[in-house]
Amino acid sequence: MCKRRGTRFGGTVVAVTFLVLVALMATAGPGRMPALQAAEVEPAPPEGQTYTGAKDCASCHFKQYMSWKKTKHAKTFDLLSTKYQADANCVKCHATGFAEATGFKDLTSTPNLVGTSCEACHGPGSKHAEIAKGFGKEKLTAAQEKTVRDSIWMMTPKNVCVECHKVEAHGESSTPAELRTKK
Ligand code: HEC
Ligand code: HEC
Ligand code: HEC
Ligand code: HEC
Repeated sequence: MCKRRGTRFGGTVVAVTFLVLVALMATAGPGRMPALQAAEVEPAPPEGQTYTGAKDCASCHFKQYMSWKKTKHAKTFDLLSTKYQADANCVKCHATGFAEATGFKDLTSTPNLVGTSCEACHGPGSKHAEIAKGFGKEKLTAAQEKTVRDSIWMMTPKNVCVECHKVEAHGESSTPAELRTKK
């Protein structure tokens, strides 16, 4: 957890993570696996953070930004035609933080929150960024680094992947025919 890793969002890494998560979910309902949960619980970040958008994160996490940029998650909004880009039934999964106070509203007012960006998985990060900026540019001490890490989720506790990746994601109606990329 404390190591920096390289191209974590190469397709293979994402695909493998996804499969592992699916496997975990299949074997363990909520409330089971107490040992695993206890080992993985992170301290909750400060409340009241607002969404900043991926470019703000990139100022400190350039490597993660560049690898995310290459994933399909960076382009999930582009799958929608103009009509569906304004459809609440689509942007809840094809944009970041829709229906939350500071999340995606529309392309004009929140162009920085299109797609499945950093904060869709890590949660909103304004205070995390402020706390990190407060420590300046010197190498962080271990205690400072812990404070910074504890100010954002490594993974939000809700089952974030499954909120979008569920079998019925597109419901009974399925993807509108004119946008379908798969048969
Ligand atoms: C001012 C610099 C700065 C900004 C801006 C920033 N971070 Fe960080 N972030 C850090 C530092 C420093 C760490 C500690 C680890 C490290 O040195 O890479 C960190 C750690 C993290 C971690 C690891 C958390 C953990 O539990 O270990 C995540 C995830 C993260 N940042 C996501 C984000 C996201 C998402 C954004 C944009 C909303 C963002 N960061 C903006 C500096 C920043
Ligand atoms: C519950 C979350 C969710 C909602 C709501 C949702 N999508 Fe998706 N969408 C996904 C996921 C996850 C994928 C990728 C999985 C896949 O390819 O089957 C996807 C893939 C797509 C694709 C590319 C793959 C394909 O089927 O051709 C298009 C186009 C698309 N969605 C359009 C839409 C439109 C239009 C709406 C609103 C009418 C919408 N989506 C609503 C989650 C969602
Ligand atoms: C689809 C979900 C998802 C998206 C989108 C995403 N991440 Fe992550 N990120 C993760 C997961 C899961 C991990 C933990 C992976 C691990 O432990 O190997 C992680 C780990 C990290 C870490 C911790 C690295 C370390 O070694 O401590 C940072 C920093 C980070 N992400 C920043 C970002 C930034 C910046 C973006 C956007 C440019 C982003 N992430 C987009 C899911 C995501
Ligand atoms: C906000 C909604 C959302 C969240 C959260 C989300 N995804 Fe996705 N994901 C999508 C959509 C939409 C696509 C379809 C992109 C496309 O078909 O172009 C996608 C595509 C993917 C793909 C295919 C990527 C590729 O390059 O073929 C994988 C794998 C994936 N997601 C895994 C994950 C994992 C693992 C998590 C959680 C850590 C996660 N997703 C969280 C919406 C989401």
